[in-house]
Amino acid sequence: MAEVVILDSRAAAGALVADEIVRLVDEVRNPVLGLATGSTPLPVYEALRERLAGHDVSHVRGFALDEYVGLDVTHPESYRSVITREVIEPLGLDPELIRVPNGALETVRHAGDDYEREIIDAGGVDLQILGIGTDGHIGFNEPGSSFASTTRLKTLTEQTRADNARFFDSLDEVPRHCITQGLGTILRARHLVLLAFGDAKAEAVAAALEGPVSAMIPASAVQLHPHVTVVVDEAAASRLELADYYRYSYENKPSWQGI
Ligand code: PGA
Repeated sequence: MAEVVILDSRAAAGALVADEIVRLVDEVRNPVLGLATGSTPLPVYEALRERLAGHDVSHVRGFALDEYVGLDVTHPESYRSVITREVIEPLGLDPELIRVPNGALETVRHAGDDYEREIIDAGGVDLQILGIGTDGHIGFNEPGSSFASTTRLKTLTEQTRADNARFFDSLDEVPRHCITQGLGTILRARHLVLLAFGDAKAEAVAAALEGPVSAMIPASAVQLHPHVTVVVDEAAASRLELADYYRYSYENKPSWQGI
């Protein structure tokens, strides 16, 4: 089962995950990070700024989960722009080694297959950061997504568009389509780290971790993966039936185990 770590702040969650990423950067020859966008991973990226200062990051590769389709790549809310602003520039990573799916309309027919090939050629993702949507999506795999899916074009739900409208001037500006790594792609990463904060995520987190494995809750795919760490605050953990057991397990964990 997933290891569930319940912490009292987003900063503590960010620090825990950042420590593991620093370990990979220092110890793995060609570390490949799976990057997420949205508000959730920001504490991880913030913690990394301080922690990675002075470390050699020239060899770090990264793959973002998803991108809007039809949004100009130079738009400030394209995920290429977000990853550049939040990850590449502050952490000093090589932009050539950090990939984001190509959401250009002209090439979207083969962009998914191209991206899959790039991930495989890089040796696969070592640690995949994941947020979770209020509808249970990971990446932009909306309810109903196949557990075998690979990177492809998807239609966003109205719920996701409304959730993301805060990043745009109006709901109308939020694209209707995206290109996202599939659940099958995500499940190939060697370590999944799912973060969630706040009440609004509590139901989706409980459904994903303790409900049935179902395409209706795409994040329940994590139950099929052998190495998953879920890092949540108290609010996002508030619907978890086994919360006391998760706390007990974490408190009594041997220090050599890591996450
Ligand atoms: P958020 O989005 O981090 O902005 O809440 C998470 C997601 O949609 O995966």
